Amino acid sequence: MPEQATDETTLFRQSWTLYDSISEMNYMFHREIYTHVTALLSQRRASGAYSLLDLGCGNTRFIAPCLKTATPSRYAGVDLSEAALKEAHEYLRGLDNVGLYHQDMLQALQATEVSFDVIFSGYAVHHLDAKGKQDLFHACAAKLAPGGQFILVDVVREEGQTREQYLEGYLNVMRTQWTAVRPDHIEEACDHVAAYDFPETFSDLKRMAAAASLPNVRLLDRFAQHHVLVFSA
Ligand SMILES: C[S@@+](CC[C@H](N)C(=O)[O-])C[C@H]1O[C@@H](n2cnc3c(N)ncnc32)[C@H](O)[C@@H]1O
Repeated sequence: MPEQATDETTLFRQSWTLYDSISEMNYMFHREIYTHVTALLSQRRASGAYSLLDLGCGNTRFIAPCLKTATPSRYAGVDLSEAALKEAHEYLRGLDNVGLYHQDMLQALQATEVSFDVIFSGYAVHHLDAKGKQDLFHACAAKLAPGGQFILVDVVREEGQTREQYLEGYLNVMRTQWTAVRPDHIEEACDHVAAYDFPETFSDLKRMAAAASLPNVRLLDRFAQHHVLVFSA
């Protein structure tokens, strides 16, 4: 892959291990959140075979155990980080019908000619700007099979909170509570968040989903800013 300019994926292309150590310490509530994801996928599996598209799959460290419990008939993971995708091959070993694609998630979703029963995204959609998110909801609606679900795990701003206020709070938590990460690494992560995180409010996400004909929304759970949302037609 040719050398890319600095962008929202730089942290994940250059130092995947930093994100891995943050998630290992459960600072973004991966344990609780992926317990919900396992339950959602198990419910879906109980009603028959299902296919799953994972947008911004990273190294799949947390979705892989869910897939081993509620195995889909086909899993497609998309990410711009080659380092993460390389690890994903290891985490997904033993599962059949797995495809990993080094692509932009919105472009991949818009281009795919197959539909999916479940579209999932964990902590990646907040990297898109508002138009990108709206386009993503439209593309999800178009590529979900009948009865399909879009499961969105992501950070969400409080109602009425500006991005600046959100960042002030989030960066403060990172600097004061993520104490197991080296201070210079925390600053690297803070720089990434400050430059590339554009979380919406829950109302904005609901409005975007409704405009894309995904009016049914469930807030399954939240852990501080970290939400588990399910959208369907
Ligand atoms: C915070 S990590 C999340 C990884 C995993 N899904 C999780 O829940 O822990 C965000 C991932 O999204 C990827 N990403 C960000 N923007 C992307 C885009 N436009 N297209 C594809 N992947 C993207 C990054 O490379 C990174 O692997």
